[in-house]
Amino acid sequence: MCSENIVLIGFMGSGKSSVGRLLSKKSGRYFLDADTLIESAQGKAISSIFEKYGEEYFRELEKESARWMAECVKGSIISTGGGMPLVVERLHDIGKVVYLKLPFEKILERISPEERAKRPLFQDIEKAKNLFNLREKIYEEQAQITVNANHPLETVVDEILLKCD
Ligand code: S3P
Repeated sequence: MCSENIVLIGFMGSGKSSVGRLLSKKSGRYFLDADTLIESAQGKAISSIFEKYGEEYFRELEKESARWMAECVKGSIISTGGGMPLVVERLHDIGKVVYLKLPFEKILERISPEERAKRPLFQDIEKAKNLFNLREKIYEEQAQITVNANHPLETVVDEILLKCD
């Protein structure tokens, strides 16, 4: 497997964290979740950061975390927030960018109400769908590898391992 970091991108609910954790287990690498990194640095949940300081502020935190990851993180699996590819122009500065592609209908089937509740931009389904439509092209542009995430977790992870060889 390549020695670069692997950077998972995709819409909210596309399985970045689950894939990242299994990928980490199978490859023996550390797993880092960019949202969790921001939450622990700020001492607040993402939803509280949005509520208290707004989305623009959160995006600045994302950019800052991306700069730090590009400089300091090596040989790891990184899961990004669904909006990071829009605000960080060159994600491949961090590592090999892998897009987990999944139709919006499947995302809706998979994401639980509890998981939706944690996500400020997934409160309204119509708005989330519009966001999804706007973002697909950007995910495609940033991706170096695209995997069909509409498969069992093991299959998705094995495909990434194979393609990142
Ligand atoms: C966001 C996705 C979230 C989180 C924040 C904003 C987005 O991460 O960063 O709520 O803009 O798509 P997940 O993709 O892990 O849900």
